[in-house]
Amino acid sequence: MRVLGLETTCDETAAAIVRLKPGGGGEILADEVMSQIAEHAAYGGVVPEIAARAHVETLDRLVARAVAKSGVPLAGLDAIAAAAGPGLIGGVLVGLTAGKALAYALNKPLIAVNHLEAHALTARLTDNLPFPYLLLLVSGGHTQLLAVKGVGDYTRLGATVDDAIGEAFDKVAKMLGLPYPGGPQVEEQAQRGDPERFVLPRPMAGRPGADFSLSGLKTAVRLEAERIGALSPQDVADLCASFQAAIVDVVVERTRAGLRLFRAAAGAPTGLVVAGGVAANGAIRRALARLAGETGLRIVTPPHALCADNGAMIAWAGIERLQRGLVDDLSFAGRPRWPLDAGAARALNGKS
Ligand code: KG4
Ligand code: ZN
Repeated sequence: MRVLGLETTCDETAAAIVRLKPGGGGEILADEVMSQIAEHAAYGGVVPEIAARAHVETLDRLVARAVAKSGVPLAGLDAIAAAAGPGLIGGVLVGLTAGKALAYALNKPLIAVNHLEAHALTARLTDNLPFPYLLLLVSGGHTQLLAVKGVGDYTRLGATVDDAIGEAFDKVAKMLGLPYPGGPQVEEQAQRGDPERFVLPRPMAGRPGADFSLSGLKTAVRLEAERIGALSPQDVADLCASFQAAIVDVVVERTRAGLRLFRAAAGAPTGLVVAGGVAANGAIRRALARLAGETGLRIVTPPHALCADNGAMIAWAGIERLQRGLVDDLSFAGRPRWPLDAGAARALNGKS
């Protein structure tokens, strides 16, 4: 089984071809990604119109490259999978329409993939991890804890009620004059800083449920920075270190809370999966590895390229769905919001 996956929901244009391995798990035959970071850098964030245009200009080329590199001709594919949301709708339409056109022209099934489901299933592509597992998804667009119980069977245990964690890193970086994307910059600065110089809040700590809130922490950093005025390089490093230490505490405490909810609702998880761009953060990774050790959980952190937005995860989600006969009609409409479970539909701000 070989599936082409298209990803255009945010600022990454991607096309990949993945094959189902005989024993389970996936083999990535080609994985083409084009980041638009440079196009958005001047604006300090993703500009939807620029993103959509860049997807249009790039996607065909990436599909052609994926086909050439994989050695699998278009006619040799079993299905076309395209991310159909949630995300910036202009970009979603580019990838979904391209997917529909290919599916129609090649007379292959179309699979409209939920981008979050693709993140959620990546640990099965890389590690063939059995259900059910706990997923911590932390990126620029998402911050959630999910019980992944089966394909199409997800329970959201917690999510951010305001900013995503990656977004908080990016906003803090911006207010401290560091370039976009801010996460790696803040992590680098933090290595030279004093994590105890500033006393910052740990929002939601001890609260029932497993939701996150980041905006108060971000504001606290801004107030400290404003109180100092002109920031020295050491001030910037200390603010980054103190901010990152607070994030680490929050992530560990909320993941622990999510684990309790998981065990109450779904029994013992097979592992803790950490995915999303923020999973690249060494301090967060180390703290979660400690938590996993303490709680006797296997921790799975897919490689960075597969944690950030990519086409292979879309192709893999396509394979999982195709195996179960879950294919879609060419009339499938792209969705800017598309929560993975019914509970998520009631999210405070719909941030998926
Ligand atoms: O998954 P991703 O590539 O794209 C989506 O948001 O979907 O995640 C990008 C986010 C950005 O907010 C970036 O600042 C953050 O992940 N990030 C990090 C690190 N590397 C990337 N945050 C903290 N520490 C890092 N080392
Ligand atoms: Zn994503």
